[in-house]
Amino acid sequence: MWKGIVILVIWVGIVQGERNHTVAAPRYRFDLDTPPEKRWDHIVKDWDDKLLQHFINETLNDYLPEAVIPILETIANAADRLIPSPYRQEMEGFAKNTGLKLSDVIALNLEYEFMTFCTSIVAQNSNGQIWHGRNMDYGFVDALRNMTIIADVTRNGKVIYTGTTFVGFCGMLTGMRPNAFSITVDARGSGSKADWWKNALEAFNALFIGGASFSSFLPREVFESETNYHDAVEKLSKRQIIAPVYYIVGGVKPGEGAVITRDRLKAKDVWSLDPDNGRWYVVETNYDHWLPPPSGDDRRDPANKFMKAVGQKNVNGTAIYDVLSTPPVYRSATVYTAVMSAADPSTYKCWTRYEFLPTVKPWTEDYNEI
Ligand SMILES: *[C@@H]1O[C@H](CO)[C@@H](O)[C@H](O)[C@H]1NC(C)=O
Ligand SMILES: *[C@@H]1O[C@H](CO)[C@@H](O)[C@H](O)[C@H]1NC(C)=O
Ligand SMILES: *[C@@H]1O[C@H](CO)[C@@H](O)[C@H](O)[C@H]1NC(C)=O
Ligand SMILES: *[C@@H]1O[C@H](CO)[C@@H](O)[C@H](O)[C@H]1NC(C)=O
Repeated sequence: MWKGIVILVIWVGIVQGERNHTVAAPRYRFDLDTPPEKRWDHIVKDWDDKLLQHFINETLNDYLPEAVIPILETIANAADRLIPSPYRQEMEGFAKNTGLKLSDVIALNLEYEFMTFCTSIVAQNSNGQIWHGRNMDYGFVDALRNMTIIADVTRNGKVIYTGTTFVGFCGMLTGMRPNAFSITVDARGSGSKADWWKNALEAFNALFIGGASFSSFLPREVFESETNYHDAVEKLSKRQIIAPVYYIVGGVKPGEGAVITRDRLKAKDVWSLDPDNGRWYVVETNYDHWLPPPSGDDRRDPANKFMKAVGQKNVNGTAIYDVLSTPPVYRSATVYTAVMSAADPSTYKCWTRYEFLPTVKPWTEDYNEI
C-alpha cells in the first residue's frame, strides 16, 4: 500500500515536472552481436526497476481482461515454439532484468501490435527527396512517453537501421535503414477494447497454427535483410502476419513511397506515390484509403488539407513535423512524432510529446540535443 503511494507520488512529480514539453527521445545502441538475452541490459539499467514495473503494470492492467491471462500463460509456456528467436530470448532477458513475468512481457509485446492509432505520411518534394513522418498515438497511459527510445541497431559495429520503440518492446513500428528505406506501422481497424480482443484471439490462432510473424517483427526482419525499397515492399507484402496492419514505406529515389494495406496472409492493396500524376504524398491513419474515414476519427482529411497547404516544393522534415503537430492530426493521445528521410540518415529524429498543446513550436531546441 505505502509502496504504491510512494510510487504514485514520484510518478505524479515526474509527470508534472515534464508536462508541456516536447523532448528528444533518448538514444541507445541495440547491438545484434550481443546475445539476445543481454541486449536490453544497458537500456533497462537507466530506468528504476520499480517504476518500470509500475509503468508496465499500468499499461497492461488497463487492457488485459482476466479471461485472457490463461491464454497468455499458455503462450508463455510454449514460448519456445511460438515466439521465434531472437525475440523470445530478448523478451526473456528483459523479463529477468525487470522482475516481470515472461507472460506479461509477451502480453505487452502483443498489446503494442494492436493499439497503435497513428498517422503516417510519405511525401516527395520537388527535388525528388522522399520524407517520411509519423505520429504514434497510444496515449492511454503516460508511461509510454517515458518508455519511448530511439535505437541504433548495430551489427559488426555498424548501424544497420535506426528505429523508435518502447523499452521492452522487441518489434519495430518506426524505423529507417540508412540510404535504403523507411517503414512505419499503423494499426488497421477499430480501436475498441472488444475489437482488440477479437483481433488478439485471431492472432493467437495464427501463432498456434504457426508460420505467422508478429506484424511488428516483420519490419525488423526487413531492416536486417533487405537493402532496397522494392525488396522491402515485396517482403512486407507477402509474409504472413498475425494482425492486419498498414505498412507505410518510403525509399530514396523519386516515386519510392507506398501504403501497403495488409490482410493477415498478404497485401490487399499497395498504394504508391505517383508524382507525375499529382500524387506526391500519401497519408495513412487507421482506415483503408479507398473508404471514407469514420466521422468520429477523421485525421486523414485534415492531414490532406495541411499537406496541400504546404505544397510539394516546401516539403522537408520541418514541414512534415508541422503537419503532424497540428490538431486534429496531433492529439492528446500522441506519444511521439518521428521524422526521417532514408536518403539522408542524419535526419532521423523523434520527439516525445508530453502534453497536448494547441500550438507547438516545430524543431524545438531539443532538436539539437539528439
Ligand atoms: C499545459 O498546457 C496546457 C495548455 O496550454 C494548460 O492547460 C496546462 O495547465 C499546462 N499544464 C501544466 C502542468 O503546466
Ligand atoms: C506489478 O504487478 C505485479 C503482479 O500483478 C505485482 O506483483 C507487482 O508488485 C506490481 N509492481 C508494481 C511496481 O506495481
Ligand atoms: C523516465 O522517468 C524517470 C524517472 O524514473 C526519469 O529519470 C527519466 O528521465 C524519464 N525518462 C524519459 C526518457 O523521459
Ligand atoms: C525546411 O525548409 C524551411 C523553409 O525553407 C527551413 O526553414 C527549414 O530549416 C527546413 N528544415 C529542414 C529540416 O531542412
